[in-house]
Amino acid sequence: MSALASNGDLLDLSGLRERVDAALEDYLGGKARQAREHRLPLAPLEVVRDFVFAGGKRIRPLMCVLGWHAGRGHGDTGPVIRAAASLELFHAFALIHDDLMDHSDTRRGRPTVHRALAARHRSDTFGESAALLMGDLALAWSQEMFNDAGLSPEQLVAALEIVDAMRDAIVYGQYMDLDVTDQPTDDMDRALAVIRYKTAKYTVEHPLHLGAVLAGADPGIRAVLSAYAMPLGEAFQLRDDLLGVFGHPADTGKPVLDDLREGKRTVLLALAVRHADPGQRATLRRLVGDPHLDADQAAIVRAVLTDTGARARTEERIDAQRRAALRALDDAPLPPRAVEALRDVARTLTERTR
Ligand code: IPE
Ligand code: IPE
Ligand code: MG
Ligand code: MG
Repeated sequence: MSALASNGDLLDLSGLRERVDAALEDYLGGKARQAREHRLPLAPLEVVRDFVFAGGKRIRPLMCVLGWHAGRGHGDTGPVIRAAASLELFHAFALIHDDLMDHSDTRRGRPTVHRALAARHRSDTFGESAALLMGDLALAWSQEMFNDAGLSPEQLVAALEIVDAMRDAIVYGQYMDLDVTDQPTDDMDRALAVIRYKTAKYTVEHPLHLGAVLAGADPGIRAVLSAYAMPLGEAFQLRDDLLGVFGHPADTGKPVLDDLREGKRTVLLALAVRHADPGQRATLRRLVGDPHLDADQAAIVRAVLTDTGARARTEERIDAQRRAALRALDDAPLPPRAVEALRDVARTLTERTR
């Protein structure tokens, strides 16, 4: 996150990515030694490690560390960095399974885990089943890495409730995301609920809360952080939805037809349906959700998303939600330098192109 580079007025977060990655290397190195010792196959470990180090913005660890600063954490940062880094393994679990469920071919500029494994073993069934297991492994390891981060028993107990809630949220959110049996509708409330559960909570709210409770912050601080996190998390996913249709795979490292082919009930689509004329609505019904949608048909859908104003309205909503997140920081009882860093990150997450 270049916007968070060392700056006299901001927290010095410039070396955070390196510290998080070093913690992950260290933990995964231990898992490799264990696997060798027990003569277990090394492929699962290598798949997870390659995935984690193929890229990624490290947003969740960053949020966790910001939560810790917001909660006036002090003392040895080692355990907090390791706990924060464990969220990247949780994220790996989420993404590996997400790509399987979304039938996505690429992630972080490479073949997705299920596609790479399928190619290696010349079997789609193997690829899908093994990717399911790799995701499970990443989830189990995130918990183990967290447990072994060197936190105090009090910190571990305080964190339990948040980690439980984080796991629940993503599964319910992803379930709602999959449930696209009806025709596209203008149901904004539902589209927004999906976003909150599948993304906003595990990406922004829970990592911030985790950092705050590790710092010993009281529930009042968590409420302030939620008021910032939920609109920002929503805006983050709305940006993802726009990039998923209008972005460039060379920047995002992800495909640009998946959401349309899968018929994802995004806010973007709900807004288009709401403001479409009958012809445009018929086009959306015909093309969105077609698993064989080609580039020309995708261009037709993009034109409808633009002409109905859905794209511009989504941009407006991103802007409004970012402003709501920033407002939540006004007069917040947080250290001024943490507030500055949170403000900075709100801009970075919503203005991104990748
Ligand atoms: C992608 O998350 C999945 C969503 C929740 C939108 P990121 O955009 O943080 O993915 P990486 O970690 O940078 O690859
Ligand atoms: C984001 O799902 C939420 C996750 C649990 C990963 P998406 O399906 O919208 O994210 P991308 O665009 O594939 O990263
Ligand atoms: Mg996806
Ligand atoms: Mg998905």
